[in-house]
Amino acid sequence: MGVKVSSFGKIPSGKETSLFTLINKNGMCLEVSDYGATLVALMVPGKDHTTTDVVLGYEDATDYWNNDGYLGATVGRSCNRNGGANVTIQGKVYELPKNERGKNNLHSSPDGYDRMVWNYQVDEEHLSVRFYRMSPDLEQGYPGNFEISVTYTLTEENEVRIHYHGVSDKDTVANMTNHTYFNLSGHQNGTILNHEVWIDSDAFTAIDEESIPTGEICQVDGTPFDFRKQKRVGAEIGADHAQLILAGGYDHNFVLNKEKGELKKIAEVFDPESGRRMEVSTTCVGVQFYTGNFITEGVQGKEGAIYHKRSGLCLETQFFPDAVHHENFPSPILKAGEPYDSVTIYKFI
Ligand code: BGC
Repeated sequence: MGVKVSSFGKIPSGKETSLFTLINKNGMCLEVSDYGATLVALMVPGKDHTTTDVVLGYEDATDYWNNDGYLGATVGRSCNRNGGANVTIQGKVYELPKNERGKNNLHSSPDGYDRMVWNYQVDEEHLSVRFYRMSPDLEQGYPGNFEISVTYTLTEENEVRIHYHGVSDKDTVANMTNHTYFNLSGHQNGTILNHEVWIDSDAFTAIDEESIPTGEICQVDGTPFDFRKQKRVGAEIGADHAQLILAGGYDHNFVLNKEKGELKKIAEVFDPESGRRMEVSTTCVGVQFYTGNFITEGVQGKEGAIYHKRSGLCLETQFFPDAVHHENFPSPILKAGEPYDSVTIYKFI
């Protein structure tokens, strides 16, 4: 029980980082770092009562700095893709970094929130760590000084609760997510193809050949995108469906059957091998279901693990990608002075 703080190594600037270890009464353990406000490890009991780390990660801050994939990262100010790397707010065009294909933006990188060292505040009593920073006007191209915090809490109900809170002094885009890759068998234990997934979604946003939403909202009915009944990830991932072929598997935003702001269970993941089950609840309107299609082949993870394509899956809660360019998508624009609040809970059964 309690919160332990230890060193997580340095980044190239020489800045030191820290690792926070939170343990609840059931022996579940969450590790988070001020480097990128990253979720580094999550030890969860399984059916044989052994505790296993169910998230992919790297060894220390230096390895996170040197590697890609956004493992466990806090992604902001706006996650996923922006076609053409720009946003127009109140008639003014703001250019974003063109870090994908020389023309689009992915995850507000290259100098996104995932590579910043955040300030922190530990709350021992509630088993939580709050990371916070002031993201200055025009950081990553976005207008407004944005005071943003990410609070991780490990509850006694075996939940990892992630709460984002922010306020900007100008209208801006606020669309934060967490990019954890889960493998409920253990982070070094094969692929997620036998995991079974349920998503409370009747539709997904179709993408083009650059993975940018076309604006079309497609019904899942009769397609491999129908997860309204729990289904093996691998069951139809190789199907001859244009959208799966474009992304090399699932890498799509699912439109959730819920209202914005309502905290509701939207997905479940079950691993028959370990007996672990994870429930995902969120206040967000969308979730990016990503099956690790682009994990760097053979990349060295923590504890000597070697990761491959499909070693983990992500359920990144969010506004729909490229929403700033599609009027039929809920708007991710945050008005000046208004609070941005978003909660996502990963609960283990
Ligand atoms: C994107 C993927 C991308 C991954 C890692 C996901 O959110 O949808 O296309 O490969 O992040 O960057």
